Amino acid sequence: MMRRNHLLTLAALSLGVLSGGVVRAEDSVKIGVILPMTGPSASTGRQIDAAIKLWMAQSGGKAGGKKVEVIIKDDAGVADTTRRLAQELVVNDKVVALAGFGLTPLALATAPIATQSKTPMVVMAAATSMITESSPYIVRTSFTLPQVSIGIAEWAAKNKIKKVVTLVADYGPGNDAEKFFTSQFQLNGGVITDKLRTPLRGADFAPVLQKVRDLSPDALFVFLPSGQGAQFMKQFGERGLDKAGIKLIATGDVTDDDQLNDMGDVALGVVNSHHYSAAHNTAVNKKYVADFQAANKFRPNFMSVGGYDGMRVIFKALDTTKGVGGDALLAAMKGQIFESPRGPVLIDAQTRDVVQDVYIRKVERVNGQLYNVEFDTIKSVKDPGKLK
Ligand code: PHB
Repeated sequence: MMRRNHLLTLAALSLGVLSGGVVRAEDSVKIGVILPMTGPSASTGRQIDAAIKLWMAQSGGKAGGKKVEVIIKDDAGVADTTRRLAQELVVNDKVVALAGFGLTPLALATAPIATQSKTPMVVMAAATSMITESSPYIVRTSFTLPQVSIGIAEWAAKNKIKKVVTLVADYGPGNDAEKFFTSQFQLNGGVITDKLRTPLRGADFAPVLQKVRDLSPDALFVFLPSGQGAQFMKQFGERGLDKAGIKLIATGDVTDDDQLNDMGDVALGVVNSHHYSAAHNTAVNKKYVADFQAANKFRPNFMSVGGYDGMRVIFKALDTTKGVGGDALLAAMKGQIFESPRGPVLIDAQTRDVVQDVYIRKVERVNGQLYNVEFDTIKSVKDPGKLK
């Protein structure tokens, strides 16, 4: 009798499992996210991870009638690791989309895997213009350096800045920032007196800042990848460049919301251009910042928004395809238009790159906290890197 009851229970249990106790494979889809959760770019991983978790909580984790499972892997910012993890996610986990990519070399290393496996690959962070041209399966929700460097060049030329020294991290996005800032500034009558570079992972800016001091330009234009801004700003102040009357202008990567509030007075008044500020004054952004901060106890930055919008693009595409991946999913990502916390966004169907407003901002103290306060908008900027 005991044994018979036991068997019945087992049978009932397995029936329960079959009839919905667990999710069957065909009722769920997986998204493979690869981020630098450790190493020098860990802040990018932390921001995007938090944004993905916020999106999952708000959306209920369902798209196209399926349960969506997100698998997050840490590549520590090492390209060989990114590529290996992408391979595993495609082959073993059968993900319908790859996403993340905290630095340009990590995105470029993965592009061939997206192409070969026909897996849509959503670049949420990396921002060198040509990344989208490295695979027809890449869709970008971050930004490009040409897109954000032109606005500050225009602003500088129109605001009595004649001589500029540029300083950029010595790799893809730095090349783009230098090239597009320079051409736009020169087109408007400005003069570039020197072009300086720092190593991608370099943290000591003292020698290069000494050089800038000696060159004594009207302004120094800077691009450094997210995570290096605070250290740079500290040394800019220590070397007395602000006191020497050298104006600092930058892309918003330098006055990154992730670190801005800890930079202190030296950051006040820095004019920069970018696509997202935590102070962006819309209802959609106010809700985003409030929800993000309630969940994480830190302020969202532009990386987080690339991650949040990337999830939206994948989810809306899954809604369209009812959970089918491959070419259908890619097609459903193209041409999406929506209101992001950053403002209006279009995923250009031809280039698969993000078209968005770029804002000119100034660092100000608002209610005791430092923010990039937007004071001018350049509407619907397509990546100028694609207009060659
Ligand atoms: C990049 O490697 O493409 C990159 C990383 C961080 C940034 C911008 C671009 O802030």
